[in-house]
Amino acid sequence: MPGPHPVEGSVGVSGMSTCLEGLKEAHGRPWPKELIALGPEESAQQMVLRRIQELSDSDQQDPFMLADLDILASRHQAFCQALPQVSPFYAVKCNSSPWVLRVLAALGTGFDCASQVELEQVLGLGVAPSRIIYANPCKPASHIRYAARHGVQLLTFDSEEELTKVAQHHPGARLLLRLRTQDSQSIFPLSTKFGASLEACGHLLTSARDLGLAVVGASFHVGSNCQTPQSFTQAIADCRCVFEMGRGAGHDMSCLDIGGGFPGTEDSGPKFEEMARVISAALAQDFPEERGVKVIAEPGRFYMESVCTAAVNIIAKKAVLEPGGSRKLMYYLNDGHYGSFRLGHREPVPRVPIVVKEFCSEPPLFPCTLYGPTCDASDRLFLEDVRLPELDVGDWLVFPSMGAYTSSMSCSFNGFLPATICYTMGPQLRCLGVGVEEEAGNLTLI
Ligand SMILES: Cc1ncc(COP(=O)(O)O)c(C=O)c1O
Repeated sequence: MPGPHPVEGSVGVSGMSTCLEGLKEAHGRPWPKELIALGPEESAQQMVLRRIQELSDSDQQDPFMLADLDILASRHQAFCQALPQVSPFYAVKCNSSPWVLRVLAALGTGFDCASQVELEQVLGLGVAPSRIIYANPCKPASHIRYAARHGVQLLTFDSEEELTKVAQHHPGARLLLRLRTQDSQSIFPLSTKFGASLEACGHLLTSARDLGLAVVGASFHVGSNCQTPQSFTQAIADCRCVFEMGRGAGHDMSCLDIGGGFPGTEDSGPKFEEMARVISAALAQDFPEERGVKVIAEPGRFYMESVCTAAVNIIAKKAVLEPGGSRKLMYYLNDGHYGSFRLGHREPVPRVPIVVKEFCSEPPLFPCTLYGPTCDASDRLFLEDVRLPELDVGDWLVFPSMGAYTSSMSCSFNGFLPATICYTMGPQLRCLGVGVEEEAGNLTLI
């Protein structure tokens, strides 16, 4: 069987990884569930191809993800460089893999948690409660009580009912009032569900005061994968109004939370640097540094999207003739809508995978529907077809930039387990002083 060879991209199958001793085997397969330290000459892309080769030679071609934790470190550096005045609180919902959280904890980020389970995960890593924001404006009472018991004080709210709950279950909370934004242009808008209108803020601020609650600032989210950097400008200006109203109502307004919405890749839409320039200008205008307001953000996609690569296998195939006589292919993959591709239906353009196969010459391309493995007919990766060569059962497709809202949204519908995740780390993390050591068979970050 020929070795795997990508149609696009330039990675080959050479180099072996330096797997650290003591790693446990994942589901009895010869692949470490934990962290792989890359040798000086090898890349995470090579690891993907090596793993594909190993699986192709075995009798199990399960889907897998490879997370390159060096990229995570680079994204953190890029964020801090472009927005030095903003403290990142990573949005755990985006990807809550233990190694991701461990690396970010070691790099010193804060964390945005949406539920008790996420709070437990982050607190369990030894992160101080002061480095956590519980940023779900509509919370179950029991989760609020958990936050109160564990010293997580910073919470968001956007309604009077939430204030009543917080007054009862967490009277010592420090609250941020979440504002509605103009986010209709974002790929994943949020403001139909969350955020108070500017008009409602005055009443909410006085209600909080009357309940004896401390509002310490304002927050917003411009929608995930925001396409219009100016949405930040408007939202920051609105927050300035809320700060003035809050001070008028007797609150000590000292924290601004600019949420998430930053791009995951540079492929399309606004560039991160451009967005950061717009944000910096708006902050300088409405929240100049000398006012001493602490500015935080809740980036998810920006940190994680490019960290993970997904590899999926073709498990079945059908060829059909379209009405005009043209050929169309249907590929059935072992990962799909209920696995790593939950958001594929909502992405405006389908992702075109890298085909891992050798061809003698440039192959013709056909419209192809990519289906997931379950018995649900709507289990397809994207709403639209993609153009790919004729492939066979057993061939592999590789999707880069699959780290955001993928594994954290997957389930085992129809008994198809979520893709196994392997993690690599290399020189970038070591440069930042994050290394690993083995203790009683477990690897820990040092
Ligand atoms: C409250 C909150 N903060 C942060 C995020 C992360 O957003 P993004 O991944 O766009 O950075 C989300 C995403 O839904 C969110 O709801």
